[in-house]
Amino acid sequence: MGGFVSPATLEQIRAASDIVEVIGSYVPLKRAGANFVALCPFHREKTPSFNVNPNKQIFHCFGCHKGGDVFTFVKEYENLDFPDAVRRLAERARIPLELEKQAGGADTRHLKERLFQIHEQITQRWQTALAAGEAGAIARDYLARRGVGAEAVQLFRLGYASDAWDDTVKWAKSKNYELPLVEQAGLVVRKEGSDHFYDRFRGRLIFPICDEQGRVAAFSGRVLTGDEKTAKYVNSPETPVFTKGKLLFGLDKSKRALLDTHCAIVCEGQLDLIACFMSGVKNVVAPQGTALTSDHARILKRYADEVVLCFDSDNAGQNAAMRSLDSLLASGLAIRAVTVPAPHDPDSFIKEFGGPAFAKLIENAPAFSDFYLDRLCATNDTTSDRGRSAIVRAMAEIIPKIRSDVLRDNYAQKTALRLGLGMSAVAMWNEFNKAARPSKEEPEETADSRALTVPDVPPQERWLLRLLLEDDEQFEWAAARLEPEWVENPVVREIVAQRLHSLDSWPGLAAWLSQLEKPEWVNLITDVLADPKPVPVEVNLKGTAQRDGAIKVLRDRYIARELAAISQRLAAPDLPEAENRELLERQSHLRRLKKEPLAARSDQA
Ligand code: CTP
Ligand code: MN
Repeated sequence: MGGFVSPATLEQIRAASDIVEVIGSYVPLKRAGANFVALCPFHREKTPSFNVNPNKQIFHCFGCHKGGDVFTFVKEYENLDFPDAVRRLAERARIPLELEKQAGGADTRHLKERLFQIHEQITQRWQTALAAGEAGAIARDYLARRGVGAEAVQLFRLGYASDAWDDTVKWAKSKNYELPLVEQAGLVVRKEGSDHFYDRFRGRLIFPICDEQGRVAAFSGRVLTGDEKTAKYVNSPETPVFTKGKLLFGLDKSKRALLDTHCAIVCEGQLDLIACFMSGVKNVVAPQGTALTSDHARILKRYADEVVLCFDSDNAGQNAAMRSLDSLLASGLAIRAVTVPAPHDPDSFIKEFGGPAFAKLIENAPAFSDFYLDRLCATNDTTSDRGRSAIVRAMAEIIPKIRSDVLRDNYAQKTALRLGLGMSAVAMWNEFNKAARPSKEEPEETADSRALTVPDVPPQERWLLRLLLEDDEQFEWAAARLEPEWVENPVVREIVAQRLHSLDSWPGLAAWLSQLEKPEWVNLITDVLADPKPVPVEVNLKGTAQRDGAIKVLRDRYIARELAAISQRLAAPDLPEAENRELLERQSHLRRLKKEPLAARSDQA
C-alpha cells in the first residue's frame, strides 16, 4: 500500500465510513436479521446473496465469493486502485489527506489538483452560460435543433464558451489564476513569442471530457455556425490531467452498464454517445474520433469481455475505427462490428428510428471476422484467383494478431469456407496459424476464469478461522494451544499463521483485512465469517470441552498425517541410518503427543 496515507488516517477514514451507509449509497440494502442483503453488484443474480455485516464492517457475496471491507467494496465497485478508493472515501468523509510522498511527488499531485479545480470551475461557468443569458442562445438553439434535451445537457454538463478572445483570460484573472497555469490546463493559448494569451474555446458548444472517476479533465468544443473555415471540433491538448489515448468519453457514466452487459459499444463522437445513452443504450464509450489505443483496450477489458464497433456510414468513420483493430485484437476482447446504414451515424439513426432499433442493430452485429470478410468480399472479386488471394492476404494480416487460439482458428476456418477452399485447406490454414502464433502467449481470460472460487475447507478449519477472528478472548485461548502446521488446508494455514503473527498488533478485523495482500484470503475469510449457519454442535464455540475437542481434532489429524508419512519413509529401501533413527524418534514423540490432552504452551499461557 506504500506510504501514501498513515495507518492512523486510514483507520480514521474507516471509522467515518460505515460500511452499511457506503454500500447502501451504491446498492439498495435490505435488513435481514443483524445483517443487510442485496442483489450482488459484482455478478448477475435473481435472489440476493450479497451480505453486509455492520458489526464486523465487512461484506461478502455467497454467489461470486467476493468479499472484504469498505475499501475493498469501493475499489471493486468503482474499479479504482486502492489509493484512489481511500481518497474517494476520505473525500466523502471530508477527511483531508496529507500530501502524498509517492512516486510523482507532492508537486505533480498538487499541480493536478489545481488543474482539475480549474476544469471544474470553468465547466460550471460554461454550463451557466449555456443555461441562461443571451450569448448562450445560439448554443441552446443548436441543441434544440439536434434534439439534445435538458436532461442530457445536465447529465453531460454541456456548456457554452462565449465567442470572445479573452473571456477565459479575464475569468482566470478574476480568479487569480496565473495564465501560464491556465495554459497548462489547455484553456488558453500563448501568442507565439509573447506573454499574451487568448482563449482556446471560442463560440463553441462545450463537451466536458471526464476521467473514469467523473472529474472533468479536458474539453471538446463544437462549432455552432456553418463556418467552413474553422475546424468542427476544437479539443484540449494533452495536459498533466489529460492523455487522449487513455481516456474514453462517457466511460464515467457508462461503466456500470459495461459491467452489467460485459459489452462496450464503441461509437465515434460525443453526440453519438449522448444520443445512445439517452435512448437507453448505456453501455457505450467514445474515443473521440481517434483509433482505440492499447491503453483504451486495456481499460475496456476491466469492464467488458466484448466490444461492438459501431461505424458511421461514411468511409472516414470506417477507417478510423479500423485502425483500432490492432489493439483490440491483441487485447483478447471479443469483437463485433456494425455499420450504421447510410446516410446515418448513431446519433441521426437514433433520432430517426429510435433507441430500440439501435439496440437491435447492435444486438445483431456480426462477429468482426464476418464483418471484415463481408467488406473484403464486397471490395474484391471472389470469383477470380487474384481477388481471392487478395482477401486471404488481408485476413492473413489480421489473424496472427489475435491472441486467442480459438478465435484465430475460427477466423481462419471462416475465411477458407467463405472462399470455397476445401477442408484440407482449412487444416493447412490452421497449421499456418499455429506457426504464426505469437510466442509469449498469455492465458485467455474468460468470464469463467474470472469467477472466484473459495477453496474447499473442512468444517473444523472454517470454525477455527471464526474462533481466531471473531473474538479476542477465544483467539488468545486458541493462540496458546494451536500450531499453524496442524492446519491442513494450505490457504487457511497461511491465514492462521498470519493471524498468530499479529498477536500483539491486532488492528481489528476490517483493518487487518486491508493489510492482507491476497484478495483470495480476504474472500475466504469473509466467506467464513459471513456464514449465517451456526457453528456445528460438535465444534460449538461455547463449552470448553467441545472447543478443546475441535482443536484437538486438528492436532490429531495432523499427527495421523505425519505418522503416515513417516511409515512410508521408513519403508524405503536403503534408508540412511541417521535418518532412520531420527524418524523413529519423531514417530514415538508423535505417538506420545497423541495420547496427551490439548495443553497451553508454557511460553505463552
Ligand atoms: N473530431 C475531432 N475533430 C474534428 C472532427 C471530429 O476531434 N475536426 C472527433 C470528435 O470527437 C467527434 C468525432 O471525432 O465527435 C466524430 O467526428 P464526426 O463524426 O465528424 O462528428 P460527430 O460527432 O458526428 O458530430 P456531428 O454529428 O455534430 O457532425
Ligand atoms: Mn454526427
